[in-house]
Amino acid sequence: MARLDELFSRLWVQYKQLTPQAERIHAALEAEGERVVNDHIALRTVNLETCDIPVLAAPFVAAGYEEKGRYHFATKKLDACHFAHPDPMRPLVFISALRLQELSEAAGATLRSLLGACALAERAPEARVTAGRMWPVSQAQYLQLQTESEYAAWLSAFGFCANHFTISVNALQRFTSLPALNDFVRRLGLPLNDSGGVIKGSAAQGLEQSSTLADRIDVHFTDGVRAVPSCYYEFAKRYPQADGTLFRGFIEASADRIFESTDAQVRS
Ligand code: NI
Repeated sequence: MARLDELFSRLWVQYKQLTPQAERIHAALEAEGERVVNDHIALRTVNLETCDIPVLAAPFVAAGYEEKGRYHFATKKLDACHFAHPDPMRPLVFISALRLQELSEAAGATLRSLLGACALAERAPEARVTAGRMWPVSQAQYLQLQTESEYAAWLSAFGFCANHFTISVNALQRFTSLPALNDFVRRLGLPLNDSGGVIKGSAAQGLEQSSTLADRIDVHFTDGVRAVPSCYYEFAKRYPQADGTLFRGFIEASADRIFESTDAQVRS
C-alpha cells in the first residue's frame, strides 16, 4: 500500500533527523549484510480531545490498521493502545497518552496551555503524526515538566513524531538473538537502557526488548538552545505462542521501563 509506505517513510526521515544514532545502527547492520525490518513505532501524546490517541491513530486506521491491545502504566500516568495491520509484515503502531488529570495542577496547566489549542485534529490525518512540536515552549516549562514527568517534558519539546523505531530481530540473518544485537550496538559505542535490566521480557512472555539510550540534540526553546534527550532505537524479538503464531502484542512491565530511554538520567 503506497500510502502506508509513504507515511512510514516520512516518519523515518523525521525520526533519523532527531536520532543520529538510528542511521548509524541501520548502516552498520546493512554493512554486515542485514536487511533492517521495522517491528513497530511509538507515538506520544496527552488525553486532550485536540490530540488524543484516536486523532493520531486516524491515518493508520484509514489504511486498514485495527486497535488490538490496551495498556495502562499507573506510575507513569499513561494509557496506551496498539494498532496492527492485517498484513503481518506491516509494523505495529503503539500510541500512548498522558492522563493530565493525574498530574499536579501546575504541570497539567502547562501541558493544557501548550497542547490544548494545537489544532492537530484539523490537519489531514497523514500530516498529524509528523506534525512535530506545534507550540512555543520555554526551557523553564520544559524543566518544570521534567521534575514531574520525563514523558511530559519530552512531549513538550518534540511534539508529534515517532519516539522510536524498532529493529525486528526475527528478520535479521546474523544477529538472531537480542544479546548478539545488543553487543553489536554496544561495540558501536552506543549505551543501552539498563533500567530493569538490559533485556526486558522473556521468550515465555512472547517478547524480548532492549533499547539504546536516547540521543541528545540541541532544541530551540523560546529562551535559548538546550541539549535534551531526543529519540532512541529499540530492538525486539518475538516468540511463537501456543497456537504457533508469533506474539504480536506488548508487555506492560517491559514497556514501562522502555519509556525511560528518553529520561535525562536513567536509573538502573
Ligand atoms: Ni517500543
